[in-house]
Amino acid sequence: MISSSDSGAAASYDVTDKAFTTYDIQACLFDPQRVEYLRSAIFQTVKPGDVVVDAGSGSGLLGMFAAQAGAARVYCLELNPEFIRVIEENAQRNGLESQIIALHGNAAKYDLPEDVDVLISEVISAGFFFEPQLQIVGHLRKFLKPGGAVVPRLMKNYVELINAQNTLYGLRLDFDSRFTELAGDHPLSHPALYLSTGFLDPSDPTVDARVRVTGTSDGNANAVKITYDIEFAEGIWADTPTEFLLNPQIIFLPEPVRVQADQEYEVSLNYLAGDSPLTCKIGVLPASA
Ligand SMILES: C[S@@+](CC[C@H](N)C(=O)[O-])C[C@H]1O[C@@H](n2cnc3c(N)ncnc32)[C@H](O)[C@@H]1O
Repeated sequence: MISSSDSGAAASYDVTDKAFTTYDIQACLFDPQRVEYLRSAIFQTVKPGDVVVDAGSGSGLLGMFAAQAGAARVYCLELNPEFIRVIEENAQRNGLESQIIALHGNAAKYDLPEDVDVLISEVISAGFFFEPQLQIVGHLRKFLKPGGAVVPRLMKNYVELINAQNTLYGLRLDFDSRFTELAGDHPLSHPALYLSTGFLDPSDPTVDARVRVTGTSDGNANAVKITYDIEFAEGIWADTPTEFLLNPQIIFLPEPVRVQADQEYEVSLNYLAGDSPLTCKIGVLPASA
């Protein structure tokens, strides 16, 4: 009955060292709902005269909002060297060049030139897969002044058992993970919270979680679905997908597990934040009473 992936050998590369391309960055830019959540959170949090870091800055968008909110200085820290000129030119075009300082480096390791009042970092995806949000915030939190704030401030991740559509275009495609839900995906359990991360608090980038889920109908679980919600700033919450944010991550199990309604199952998840979902070790077992 146990289903556990062996593909989860320890990552032999540094997961914090993968930059986005200019193609990827457009997806975040042209998602007005995502941008509106972040803009409101930044205007609520940044006070005139603040020093701010925007880690994983991309086009410099969030850093520019911080500058518009009155920040004295905004360090726009970005791993992809191509974006440094983009950030500088965007700042200039918007008359914000006296406040914005573009820095090239890995935000999970970079030592800032001074302490900051606000740490902004949106390199988020379901379960913290793919992007090193935990490593970046874990490192840069050291540069936060007492009473400083982080945007977003809280993220909650949930796991549920599903029967996922495993064919597409007439082919079996049930190995790779996906962030798109398909018409043939059916829930088989309630979602259960497995990771609640307040970005002001220390957190381990190695996720090692064990939770109980209750079956909602009978069927074969061939995948888990990871979903999340976010608090961007106090009172600014989101729990439904926008174009780019809050999409689920569906990860197939090596072997399906038979699920019965009203039965409890213990789901274990073990992976390194920032790594691919294919490295995630997943266990599903009937819960012992
Ligand atoms: C999801 S995009 C967000 C861009 C921008 N903050 C926004 O909200 O529009 C993530 C950005 O973080 C950058 N990034 C990823 N890992 C990084 C790291 N370790 N250090 C610095 N930048 C990183 C990527 O290259 C990309 O530009």
